[in-house]
Amino acid sequence: MNVVLWGIFPYVALILLVGGLIWRYKYDQFGWTTRSSQLYESRILKIASPLFHFALLAVLVGHLVGLLIPKMFTDRIGLSQEMYHLGAYFGGGLAGLALAVGLIMLIWRRRSTGRVFAATTRNDKAMYLILAGVILFGMVATFTGDTTPAGEHHNYRETVSVWFRSLIVLQPNIEAMAAATWQFKVHVFIGMLLFAITPFTRLVHAFTAPLHYLFRPYVVYRSRDRHQRPVSAGKRGWDPIGTPDRERGRR
Ligand code: HEM
Repeated sequence: MNVVLWGIFPYVALILLVGGLIWRYKYDQFGWTTRSSQLYESRILKIASPLFHFALLAVLVGHLVGLLIPKMFTDRIGLSQEMYHLGAYFGGGLAGLALAVGLIMLIWRRRSTGRVFAATTRNDKAMYLILAGVILFGMVATFTGDTTPAGEHHNYRETVSVWFRSLIVLQPNIEAMAAATWQFKVHVFIGMLLFAITPFTRLVHAFTAPLHYLFRPYVVYRSRDRHQRPVSAGKRGWDPIGTPDRERGRR
C-alpha cells in the first residue's frame, strides 16, 4: 500500500497534471478559463477572491521553504528547530486560516447567490470538496500532526520533506513518508489528488497569465458629449459603408 500511495501515485498525479494540461491546451482552449461569475455578484467576490489568492500565495511560499530547504541547511545557518517550528506554526497557521476563511466566503457566496449557484457545475462541486479537504487537513496537520499516537515528537521535515525531495530525483523514499503521522498522510494524499484533477477543472486558470494584456493596443473609451445628438437617432443598425457623417441617422 505504501508503495502505491507514496511511490507510484505521486508520478501518476504528475502525469495527469502535465498530460492533462497539454491535452486541454490542444483541445479546449476556449474552455481554459476561470468561468468567472463576477458579473453575477461582485460585492463578496471583491474581498473573498484576493483574500483566498494572496493567502494561497503565502501558503505556497511556506510549502516551498518547508519542503525544499533541508533541515541541515537551517541548522547550519543557526535557525533552531524550535524557532523554525514556531514560525511555521504561527506563520503557516495564519496563512492557512486566511485561506480557509477566503474559501468559506467563496463557497458561501456560490451557495447563497442564486445566479452564481446556477452557474456551478458538478465538476465545480467535486473540485471545491477536494480543495476544502486539502486545506482542512493542512491545518489539522500543522496544528496536531507533530505528535505521534505513541506521544513521540514527529518532525515533518524528517519525513514528508525528505520524501518530497526524493521524488524530484526519481528515487522515492517511501519509508520516509510512511513514517509521517496520519494527518500529514491524508493532507498530502488529497493534495496529490487535487493536482491530478486540476487540468480537468476550472483550477486550470492557475496556469494562465494574461501576458498579452501588457502588449495589446489600448481600448479607447470616449464619453459622448451630452448635448450631441445620438449618432444614429431614429434608426437602428449599421449605416452602409461610405455614408457621410451628416447623413448618418437622418434616413
Ligand atoms: C501534495 C503536495 C503537498 C505537500 C507535500 C504538502 C505538505 C504540507 C506540510 C508539510 C504542511 C505543514 C507545514 C507546517 O506546519 O509548517 C502543510 C500544511 C498546509 N498545506 Fe500542504 N502540502 C501539499 C499540498 C497542498 C495544497 C495543494 C494546498 C492548498 C491548495 C495545501 C494547503 C495547506 C495548508 C492550508 C496548510 C496549513 C497551513 C500551513 O502550514 O501553511 N497543501 N502541507
